[in-house]
Amino acid sequence: MNERMIFPVVAAALVDSAGRVLLQQRPAGKPLAGLWEFPGGKVERGESPEAALIRELAEELEISVASDALTPAGFATEMLPDRHLLLMLYVVREWQGEARPHAATALRWEQPADMASLPMPPADPPLVRQLAACLAWD
Ligand code: CDP
Repeated sequence: MNERMIFPVVAAALVDSAGRVLLQQRPAGKPLAGLWEFPGGKVERGESPEAALIRELAEELEISVASDALTPAGFATEMLPDRHLLLMLYVVREWQGEARPHAATALRWEQPADMASLPMPPADPPLVRQLAACLAWD
């Protein structure tokens, strides 16, 4: 029998002063190429979700985020044939540096209400709804 592994992934909703949130486009050659997602990536073995997100944001966007600037905002799960994806979203309102697309990715800033029309990986749209609720609460 195959064991279905939990596969933790972290993602950030970087929110600017106008309430817009950063999305990045997955580059050609990667799975789900061309889709728009919250920036982030896999949590590595022995790494905390927060440390993984800080590392991914530095690698992908060249920004620096302090661990106390990460606020959990929701999660989504997705069953894949060989593993169970757990995608955890954090709101980030403060960071250092200007987000720059890495390699082939493009970036765009969008209001959560305008994200429904964008093609996203399957786990991300439920997070958009949780994020909208979370930001409306502030
Ligand atoms: O950057 P890294 O290679 O660590 O990870 P990734 O390829 O960006 O993300 C790993 C997997 O998580 C992807 O194959 C996507 O299935 C999923 N993911 C997602 O569904 N939504 C996101 N916002 C980020 C990642």
